[in-house]
This record gives sequence, C-alpha cells and structure tokens, in this order.
Amino acid sequence: KVSREFIDELPKAELHVHLEGTLEPELKLKLAKKNHIDIGQTTIEDVEESYHYDDLASFLAVYYPGMAVLQTEEDFYELAITYLHHAAADGVRHVEMFFDPQAHLVRGIPLHTVVDGFYQACVDARAFDIDAHLIMCFLRDMSALSASDLLQQAQPFRNKILGIGLDSDEHHNPPLKFAQPFSAAIAQGYRITMHADVDQVDSIEHIKQALEIINVERLDHGTNIVEDQDLVDWVNNIHLGLTSCPLSNDFISGDLKGKEIIELLNEGVKVSVNSDDPAYFGGYIADNYEALAAEYKLKPEQIVQLARNSFETSWISDKQKAIYL
Ligand code: ADE
Ligand code: ZN
Repeated sequence: KVSREFIDELPKAELHVHLEGTLEPELKLKLAKKNHIDIGQTTIEDVEESYHYDDLASFLAVYYPGMAVLQTEEDFYELAITYLHHAAADGVRHVEMFFDPQAHLVRGIPLHTVVDGFYQACVDARAFDIDAHLIMCFLRDMSALSASDLLQQAQPFRNKILGIGLDSDEHHNPPLKFAQPFSAAIAQGYRITMHADVDQVDSIEHIKQALEIINVERLDHGTNIVEDQDLVDWVNNIHLGLTSCPLSNDFISGDLKGKEIIELLNEGVKVSVNSDDPAYFGGYIADNYEALAAEYKLKPEQIVQLARNSFETSWISDKQKAIYL
C-alpha cells in the first residue's frame, strides 16, 4: 500500500486547479462578513449543506454565486496564498492556476484587482519554494466576443499570465466557438489549454476540435479519449498532457475515472492527477492521489509516473524541468 507520506513527499506539479475553487467555507464566511455580502448562509455547516451537485451545471450553479464575497485585491491575494500554502504542504513545487476574470468583471470587479491580487501571491510563494503561474480562462457559456474583449483588456497584464484556458459549462459550447480568441491568444504568445470535462455531450467531437483546429497544448480532464484509439494515438504522438481530477470526477459523475487513468497510463499517455476545485470536491492534490491509489491499489511506480507526467506536461522551462525529471 502506498502511504500518505510517500504521496506528500513526492514532488508534484499541479496543472488543473481553479483559484476560485479553493475558496473554503471558512474564508467564504469571513469575507462575506468583512465585505457585508449576504450569501444566504451563516455557518460552515450551512455552506457545506449547499454543496450538492450531480452534474457540471448544478455544480456551477453553486460555484459562481459564492464568488461574490471576493471584492478587493487583498481578498484575491488571501485566496491564492492560502491555496499555495496548502499545495506546498502537499508536495507541490510548480503550479499553473486557472482563474475566471469574466465571473468577476460581470460583478463590477476590475481586472487589475483580480490579476494583481493573484499575481502577488505567485511572487510571495517563491519564499516557500513554489513556482506559481496563472492561466486566464474564457467562460465558454459567454460569447466569443466577450472572450476577445477579455483578451484585449488583459494586454497590460501580458507578462503576469502564462496561458489561456476554457472552462464553465461545456454543453452546446464547443471549442470552435472560440477559434478566433484562441488564435489571437496564440499569436500573443500565450500557452493554450482547454477543458474537455468528463461525461459531456459531444465530448469526443469537442476533443477533436480542440486538438485538430485550436491546437491546444493540454486537455483538462479529457480522459474520454480512451473510447477512441485514433485519439489516444494522436495524443501520444504529440506528447499532449491530460489533467485528470479524480475527486472532481467522483463528485460530478460518481466515479473517480481510475479505470480510464490506468488504461491511459498503460498506453503511455501523459495523464496527471490534480484537484480541480478542492474546496468543493473534498480534497487537495495529495487527497486526489491518495483516493486514486487506495481505490485502484496503485503501485508506487504508477504514482511516480503520474507525478513525472505532471512536470513533463507543465509549462516550466526545460532547464527547470530537468530538476524534476
Ligand atoms: N470551473 C471550475 N471547475 C470547473 C470544471 N470542472 N469544469 C468546467 N468549469 C469549471
Ligand atoms: Zn476544471
């Protein structure tokens, strides 16, 4: 049996975590009080009681309203630095973190408040040995024009943002809808990834669009490719990373998707383990490794391969990569 100490001490990269998804009930209530925001709940038990979801849409319906408590640059800083301390304790050395500016812009929070708060936490995390970066996401249930407008607004912050992602509700929102803003992002030198959530309608078609037309460099989730050998071969040929999130899968689909992860590992696919929205799905990255290892009786070599894959498919420099591989 793989011990928790083994998992904690193994150096890891986290490539799929939403900063807004690290908002623990305790901090949510503290910020609600400070900022005089009525979130409809007053105790940790009340907040946890509201965390019931059985698909992506019902999760997002709980997730977005909770963000209302984030108001000032200090709030965004506190959210990120709290997560980064937790990640460090879990053995994370490198992290690329998603954030959703449009979810804040629609509430009247300026982009600089969000980016500057999050970025300062990345700078301060160097003091405890985490190399932290930001990936700005387009919300796929908003328009392509809104995404293009966000990209334009982000120009002054270009050197603080490593990559562009695509998240939120995938149903009826295919990658191709965002061909224009993604091609503009690539032209501006951003790294590119996007969500292909598990158990989505038209999942395989969406993955094909992401790979063949958008030219993504990673897929977030994306483990559905096991259904299609041509896709597995394609992904292997270009050494594309898949960022799987077992506890998230379990909450949203009732299944850690460990069978798929193991099959992909056996095929040589660069799949990694990540936490997605740790405050909402019951655990941080080491909890995800632990749950997967326990349920599927993973061998230490498989755990090490998952961690190696996380560094291999990260966007750190080759020089830094050499430290971990
Ligand atoms: N935003 C936060 N978590 C997400 C997920 N798992 N899928 C899509 N959008 C998200
Ligand atoms: Zn996600």
